[in-house]
Amino acid sequence: RLCRAQMVSLPKAEVHVHLEGCFDPEQLAVWALSSGIPMPRKQDELLNFNGLADFLAFLDWSCGLVSSRERLAQLSYSYAQRLSQNGGLYADLIFNPTHWKTWRGRLGEMIDAIDAGLRAAEEDGLASVGLCVSLLRQQTAAEASELVDFLTALRHPRVVALSIDGNEAVTKGSGTRFAQAFARAGRAGLKRTVHAGESSGAEGVRDAILLLGADRIDHGVRAIDDPAVVALLAERRIPIGVCLTSNIKLGVYPRYAEHPLRRLRDAGVITTINTDDPVLLQTTLVDEYLICQNEFEFSPHDIVDVALNSLAASFASDEAKMTYR
Ligand code: ADE
Ligand code: ZN
Repeated sequence: RLCRAQMVSLPKAEVHVHLEGCFDPEQLAVWALSSGIPMPRKQDELLNFNGLADFLAFLDWSCGLVSSRERLAQLSYSYAQRLSQNGGLYADLIFNPTHWKTWRGRLGEMIDAIDAGLRAAEEDGLASVGLCVSLLRQQTAAEASELVDFLTALRHPRVVALSIDGNEAVTKGSGTRFAQAFARAGRAGLKRTVHAGESSGAEGVRDAILLLGADRIDHGVRAIDDPAVVALLAERRIPIGVCLTSNIKLGVYPRYAEHPLRRLRDAGVITTINTDDPVLLQTTLVDEYLICQNEFEFSPHDIVDVALNSLAASFASDEAKMTYR
């Protein structure tokens, strides 16, 4: 068995994590008080989420408390710091502009502020981080197209991917709606990552692969409900970004005993281990690796394998990947 320190020292990446999930709850309470914005519930119940929809509504509230460039840069810096403390060398960080009400229409400024925080972290010797700019599942085809136009014109070196997150249950069959925008993003050199198989079943994973050209699937665990979709993931070598604590806390599975992590790995699906929303879900990357060992009986070999998968599955440049060993 590997001890915590050994888990920390394993070279690894995080490939499924949201900037919106990195708020410190005490900091949020201070900001809410000083800006006169009411708390959604009592402080000691702030992180008791009642499923994904409630969690996403919480993000609208918490992101609404961040109006300054400094706060956004600081939040980004502190994520890189936390990743480094967990032995992470690189991360693909998802950021969804729709949660950040006070920044509406100022996406370029937001990206610059996040970039400033991440650049400062790199200058301090911390992990490097690429940004995945995300659509929310219920957005329109026109909004998706507009985002792709913006990102391809901007060509910001920090932005590595287009993403979709949010609640897959609110709009069925949205793969078709986003297909054109995703195809254009791919042609413009952006990677593509899609939340699927969390609040959707296996069909959401199939759509992400066949309609959206996903290079990676965020969650993907409910692919297990359709053996053909599991085979599609394995054959096309499309990695999935599994988030164990998140799946339990947000109610995708009631217990680890029901979680398909091991069955997906055994079926040949390239699997990575991630936090999703580390601070709000009160976990760390190393805690997630420890859960693999404690709840899924991962051997040291299995643990090393998922860590290597994470580096290979990341959207870091090939040059950077050579140095992550
Ligand atoms: N945004 C932040 N965390 C998320 C999750 N687990 N699923 C969908 N959207 C999210
Ligand atoms: Zn996620």
